[in-house]
Amino acid sequence: MQKTDWIEIGKTEDLIRELSAHGFIKEYILQEKKVLLSYVDGKFGAIYSRCNHMGGPLAKGRIHDGHVECPWHYWQFDLKTGQAKSPTQEPLASSGGCLPSYPLKIENGNLLIHLQNETERVRPSYNPMQDVAREPKRAPGRLRVLGLSTTAMDPQHPRYSTSEDLLKSTLQKAQDELHVETKFLALSDLKFRHCEGFYSKSEKACTWPCSITKMDPADEMIQVYEALVHWADVVLVGTPIRWGAASSLYYKMAERLNSVQNQITLRDRVLIQNKVAAFIITGGQDNIQAVAGQMLTFFGELGFMAPAFPFVAHSLGWSSEDMEKNMDTVQQSQYLREQSFELVERAVQLAQKFVNTQQAAEL
Ligand code: FES
Repeated sequence: MQKTDWIEIGKTEDLIRELSAHGFIKEYILQEKKVLLSYVDGKFGAIYSRCNHMGGPLAKGRIHDGHVECPWHYWQFDLKTGQAKSPTQEPLASSGGCLPSYPLKIENGNLLIHLQNETERVRPSYNPMQDVAREPKRAPGRLRVLGLSTTAMDPQHPRYSTSEDLLKSTLQKAQDELHVETKFLALSDLKFRHCEGFYSKSEKACTWPCSITKMDPADEMIQVYEALVHWADVVLVGTPIRWGAASSLYYKMAERLNSVQNQITLRDRVLIQNKVAAFIITGGQDNIQAVAGQMLTFFGELGFMAPAFPFVAHSLGWSSEDMEKNMDTVQQSQYLREQSFELVERAVQLAQKFVNTQQAAEL
């Protein structure tokens, strides 16, 4: 090996001071290579400074047990060898691969690095279980209506929910009289994490499927993605009104649907097309139109179309907010049931037109 193959980074004592001031890791650009230099447990390490997953900036990560944890989706890499350690919640990467690492040596109090002798980069291999990532294509068959209840509920102690009741009875009638396939999904039955703001770190960190879906096999938001992106032609969303807004679970879901909407803004890729959304909204007080307006805008931004008169709503006013009476009113209201059925009928008719147009185009 030629002496010139080694290049000097700096005096060890200066580097230790500098690295200590940066949490013991720092990115250096050395002959155009991005190198993550570390000083942990009295030893220097040098590896490539961009994550093997999606290029996250490792210098902004945290150190755990001799590894740097990527700030974007938490993959970890050995600070000396570059070998990935799959985080416990990472089923996607059957192997996170290995980042290049660089030999270091100390001579006369200086730290030297050998950039030519870098170890090979091994790209991560992915677990193909992420079927939800497939290209959306409508599977043949009858029209499919998804009922999506966003009411928060303790599944151990279920209670009567006006919006959920209307949603379920409407689905049943649609199945019996419109001969569509139906599916009911209650967000309260699903265990899923809040959006953790990957987009706020970097637009590249907010992925489809959602970064959390990729990381966490226990996260059940995948059922909503599968149903909305791949299965349903029509989605009927039910929500109560909570302080003038849709339910908290609705917003928890909406934040996780960022990953669908971001595909449009970031990659010009529309995952939801030729699908219809309509809404059943019930509340003890008013603000129905604001809730409906917000939901319509959001679902419109995802790619859904709305039928004429796109929501059915019910509210008890200021002067008679007697919630037991409210339940009775909804349970006994033939009018609300008829209106909800007419809503799904309009949604199904619109979706059928989309399917017919698509089929005609494919002939
Ligand atoms: S874990 Fe580093 S970019 Fe995703």
